[in-house]
Amino acid sequence: MALGLKNVQSKENGNRRSFLKWLLGFGIFSTIASVLIPVIGYLIPPERGSTAGGGRVLVGTTLDIPFGMGKVVQLGNKPVIVINTPQGITAFSAICTHLGCIVDWDAERQLILCPCHDGLFNPQTGAVIAGPPPAPLPPVPVSLEDEEIYLGEA
Ligand code: FES
Repeated sequence: MALGLKNVQSKENGNRRSFLKWLLGFGIFSTIASVLIPVIGYLIPPERGSTAGGGRVLVGTTLDIPFGMGKVVQLGNKPVIVINTPQGITAFSAICTHLGCIVDWDAERQLILCPCHDGLFNPQTGAVIAGPPPAPLPPVPVSLEDEEIYLGEA
């Protein structure tokens, strides 16, 4: 009789011990996952509006970027400045060729401006007009279709 009670208690202890082991393992796994998932998400950001593999991406309309205005948009993970110039829509990488600041549109001067060291770029060609940038802004293929502005190759 006493032996049977001991067996039942031993079996309950075994069940409790295995449950506690499972709970401890789950806790450790959850802790590691809650640290690793955000780190991996930060290191490998999702592609947005990418033209990888070809194709064009709609980035707005001429209502968003009216004549004489420019705007920085995202193409994948890269900023691109799109300008509605008298000669048509142009687009360039918005990463300054000096130290990598993001350029912006200077509506008053009708030029692309890098705010970090006052670099100035031509909105038609991307060429350096003034300041320390050593090279022009790389062009990005852009097209206009029914007032919609597309970046990337067709
Ligand atoms: S980073 Fe653009 S001018 Fe220096």
